[in-house]
Amino acid sequence: MDSPLAAVAKLAGFYLRKGGKLPILIVAVAVFLLAAVLYGEDMRSLAEYSWWRYKALYETDYAPGDPFVPEACDLSDGDWVFDQDYPPYREGDCEFLSKQVSCLQNGRPDTLYQKWRWQPKNCSLPRFDARRMLEWLRGRRMVFVGDSINRNQWESMVCLMQTVVPRGRRSRIVDGSRIIFPIKEYHASIEFYWAPFLVESNSDEPEFHSIPVRVINPDSVEKHAAHWKGADVLVFNSYIWWMNDPRMKVLRPGAKNWTEHQEIGRREAYERVLRTVFDWVDRNLDPNSSSVFFMSMSPLHGRSMDWGNPDGVKCAKEREPIRNMSGVHIGTEMGLWALARKAAASTARVPVTFVDITAMSERRKDAHTSVFTMQQGKVLTPEQKAEPAKFADCLHWCVPGLPDTWNQLIYARFLSGRRPQR
Ligand SMILES: *[C@@H]1O[C@H](CO)[C@@H](O)[C@H](O)[C@H]1NC(C)=O
Ligand SMILES: *[C@@H]1O[C@H](CO)[C@@H](O)[C@H](O)[C@H]1NC(C)=O
Ligand SMILES: *[C@@H]1O[C@H](CO)[C@@H](O)[C@H](O)[C@H]1NC(C)=O
Ligand SMILES: *[C@@H]1O[C@H](CO)[C@@H](O)[C@H](O)[C@H]1NC(C)=O
Repeated sequence: MDSPLAAVAKLAGFYLRKGGKLPILIVAVAVFLLAAVLYGEDMRSLAEYSWWRYKALYETDYAPGDPFVPEACDLSDGDWVFDQDYPPYREGDCEFLSKQVSCLQNGRPDTLYQKWRWQPKNCSLPRFDARRMLEWLRGRRMVFVGDSINRNQWESMVCLMQTVVPRGRRSRIVDGSRIIFPIKEYHASIEFYWAPFLVESNSDEPEFHSIPVRVINPDSVEKHAAHWKGADVLVFNSYIWWMNDPRMKVLRPGAKNWTEHQEIGRREAYERVLRTVFDWVDRNLDPNSSSVFFMSMSPLHGRSMDWGNPDGVKCAKEREPIRNMSGVHIGTEMGLWALARKAAASTARVPVTFVDITAMSERRKDAHTSVFTMQQGKVLTPEQKAEPAKFADCLHWCVPGLPDTWNQLIYARFLSGRRPQR
């Protein structure tokens, strides 16, 4: 007999077999009371623990009636539809949301930006179901690797998922370049790893990366990858840091330190970096049990003339998505987009899913943090807010908001089988 709980269960089973008279409710109450006495405050976690153990034993991953998203459906082609049921959670309910993206708390007066649902032309995007996502992540590590936009997306994922962890038992662990949201009961974690160029660079220090001369080592990823080796789900991105200069400084072959660099074109460098990262993926991950995603370019909205608003100031006055994209050019570097898509499709062993968020995000001039954000550790002052031309951040996104939809795309791909298999 392995536990008192099992003992009661067996006893009850015995009575039932004998006479079948013992009402099931009484048995249940007896088991519950005994467990409550034994485990006291842990009762709630015990109940949850048993629940998922049960599910693991008796249910398959896939329930009938799941909305199915055909692989062939182009999720990147669609429209933003106003939906009163959005957002999926409230900003104030997301416990670990950083001040940087807590736009309402920072004084943003409108909430319209939270209420848009992405509607692909040819199929529907299923609503994000944290419980189901959690079932898939049980016993797994999901790691977002990239720059602050990817951290933005990681924050959204934590907000979407945090309700599955009871209040009071949620935590957030900062460990060097890693931030971890553990889901202990499920032996799972959702992590972010700071590597703005993916490969090694002189800007890898998570807190102090305002380096005047940025240099990358395009052929070397091992030092970072050691921190995500063994991850089951990897979500990569890398874009904004490439846009400072059309030429990139890369380490010379055989260089001893970051001062020994040479310049090559941005696209050439990007291609080399992708090759390094995807080669690592191909050599080090188990194609049968891991899932790899590469997020496409997240656009900037720095010039209101791009969408034909001569009265605008960067993204600061925008309250609605762009409805008609014809004749609109946001200026995203689509050359990098094409390189990333091609590289993602050309791994030999481990499939990489290219998640195209670019076109849908280009429409969301309204969704940036703008002046409702922080700078150098402080929320912008009223004086700074009054100067959006100088202070508006038209790069990062409010949460809840657009990054929730990016995560919904990953969720949809999980639904159609791109999740790690057991
Ligand atoms: C919609 O789906 C159908 C059938 O799968 C396909 O033939 C068609 O090209 C798709 N259209 C768009 C706009 O994706
Ligand atoms: C970097 O290497 C160069 C050439 O080997 C050397 O002259 C320089 O002092 C080194 N700089 C640092 C900071 O170590
Ligand atoms: C992946 O699964 C296939 C089919 O079940 C099997 O033949 C193959 O050896 C597996 N590969 C690895 C790396 O485990
Ligand atoms: C979008 O704008 C273009 C040019 O400005 C116009 O010709 C077209 O009719 C518009 N489309 C819609 C759906 O409004």
